[in-house]
Amino acid sequence: MARIIGGITTSHIPAVGNAIARELFDDPYWKPFFDGYPPVRKWLKENKPDVAIVIYNDHGLNFFLDKMPTFAIGAAFEYRNEDEGWGIPTLPPFKGDPKLSWHLINALVADEFDICSCQEMAVDHGFTVPMQLMWPGLESAPRAIPININTVQQPMPSPARCYKLGQAIGRAIESYPEDVKVVVLGTGGLSHQLDGTRAGFINKEFDLMCMDRIVDHPEELARMSSLDLVRQAGAQGAEFVLWLAMRGALSGKVTKLAGNYHIPISNTGAGMLLLENAA
Ligand code: DHB
Ligand code: FE
Repeated sequence: MARIIGGITTSHIPAVGNAIARELFDDPYWKPFFDGYPPVRKWLKENKPDVAIVIYNDHGLNFFLDKMPTFAIGAAFEYRNEDEGWGIPTLPPFKGDPKLSWHLINALVADEFDICSCQEMAVDHGFTVPMQLMWPGLESAPRAIPININTVQQPMPSPARCYKLGQAIGRAIESYPEDVKVVVLGTGGLSHQLDGTRAGFINKEFDLMCMDRIVDHPEELARMSSLDLVRQAGAQGAEFVLWLAMRGALSGKVTKLAGNYHIPISNTGAGMLLLENAA
């Protein structure tokens, strides 16, 4: 049977992709950010997941405002990356797992989550930056399945709905008959606003509260509305629902093994958590 061994959250800031390409790991601006990741990489090396499910929001590379599914799942043999205009070098394609993708899509639709299935899907920085942070160089990266949640255009699914989607993803994985180890990534956040009069807004107190409560009391955070999130964390802080979806997928005994928070990285409160999910 398939098993979820853990969940990881990380911000997915495009500037991080550029810092990786330029190997700025010891640069004084970047060091406090990159120094958070070695414990996560060590855990991944020791626990060797076969598949990474990456929950993120597409930022306009694969979907645009004219067609915006609430929930979309990749079902491709591989996922291309393309130039989004941030100056990040374009990466080679990522290996998929279409068999597990279709199992997820079937199970979620049966569970009353109406999914947009995507046999072709370009992956943006919301996917590529976290994959590079977890598996530097990407040679050792496992097969990956991208899951998109709309956080960019109204109406957005509520935090409660995204948490429940995560729970349904957890049930779907646990019902997969193959013996695979799965890690679930929730990317994006924490507080940030990229435009408008509050551009540059960061809410450290709120971010730290979310990083604390998501470990053992995610249902409290899921009671917020999307508008609460925008008020407290900025327009793009709405990406926190992606963390909640990841947390929903962990149904076992959850233990925080690592965490890091640093501000600012670009315009964002950059947060990271490693949660182990014991059977
Ligand atoms: C930034 C953060 C994001 O989550 C994103 O998608 C794009 C840019 C930033 O802080 O620059
Ligand atoms: Fe983003």
